[in-house]
Amino acid sequence: MKTENPGIAKPLLTALDGKPSRRPPIWLMRQAGRYLPEYRAVRADAGSFLDLCLDPARATEVTLQPIRRFGLDAAILFSDILVVPYALGQKLAYVEGEGPQLDPVRDTAGLSELNWKIDRLDPVFETVERVRSALPEQVTLIGFAGAPWTVAAYMVEGEGSRDYVQPKGWALRDPDGFGKLIDLLVECTIDYLARQVEAGAEVIQLFDSWAGVLAADQFDRWVIEPTCTIVDALKARFPSLKIIGFPRGAGTLLPRYAEATGVDAVGLDTQVPPLWAREAMPEMPLQGNLDPIRLLVGGSAMEQGIEAILAALDGHPFVFNLGHGVLPSTPPQHVARLVELVRQR
Ligand code: CP3
Repeated sequence: MKTENPGIAKPLLTALDGKPSRRPPIWLMRQAGRYLPEYRAVRADAGSFLDLCLDPARATEVTLQPIRRFGLDAAILFSDILVVPYALGQKLAYVEGEGPQLDPVRDTAGLSELNWKIDRLDPVFETVERVRSALPEQVTLIGFAGAPWTVAAYMVEGEGSRDYVQPKGWALRDPDGFGKLIDLLVECTIDYLARQVEAGAEVIQLFDSWAGVLAADQFDRWVIEPTCTIVDALKARFPSLKIIGFPRGAGTLLPRYAEATGVDAVGLDTQVPPLWAREAMPEMPLQGNLDPIRLLVGGSAMEQGIEAILAALDGHPFVFNLGHGVLPSTPPQHVARLVELVRQR
């Protein structure tokens, strides 16, 4: 691991340590991506999206682009949550306009064809090393993975979906069989994230983007338990590592998630009222949750949204972010204005 310069305080780490500051740190989910012309230029030369994720020079460049342009407080590794099924040997393609497509795994027979080869992700760890050594001292490097439920949802459905009938159906019909897939993902995710930390990631975010499609009585088994196992294993190996959990759509189950998983901070999606979150989780650093559409629209709609969040979370340990990722049609100058407004505090 890279050694720290004790003289430089990193605003993101301060907030994740539970210390409020007048001017919260800011980074944005999907801060690298198609809304930036400099990303589209690199993307055009890279081949497929997966090729870009596995090309350390280009992946480093696109990770750094939003840091250079906007001066954000954190860089997030440029990769994707579905590189884990890729390293398990599942066939994966990103189809223009349709999103990811995988050869679905639907039963325990399908599981026996999966074989974890972490070397397939060596280029990702090289990207982490390169980014870490290129970042300004006050900027934190965030590594990430999809949480097991969300990655399993794509693996079993074979594509993005509104209701995830296939994974939900398997989990209800055959919880032991589906549990084997989740257990496998827990192990692979621990291995994958530990390697990111060893390569220089200072904070980890677990994206559970489809946590909100589960019924409340399924949430503990498929969201909380696997997350808890991952957090425990990583903390045992890296006691000072900070972990942000983002169980999108968890709603009223958020306080239970915050308490039971052991994460250091909780990411709020667009629907969560920040004041409710603060009252329900008084000790927990929070991250979020400007509506990405307010960022896209800009002007007073954006400014009012920013002000409301800053007012609700003033004095609480807090990381400014969106409630979900930056949309591809967002004007980059709106992001510049957002950063300026948060920094003016
Ligand atoms: O800037 C960052 O946030 C880091 C990079 C990052 C990407 N994906 C790049 C990407 C991160 C952290 C992710 C996470 C991810 N990937 C999630 C969790 C967050 C969320 O959005 O809920 C999920 C569900 C995925 C799976 C995935 N990858 C989908 C559904 C898609 C297609 C949707 C789309 O926007 O096209 C992707 C592709 C993807 N991942 C792109 C980027 C920049 C677009 C691909 C391109 O440039 O052509």
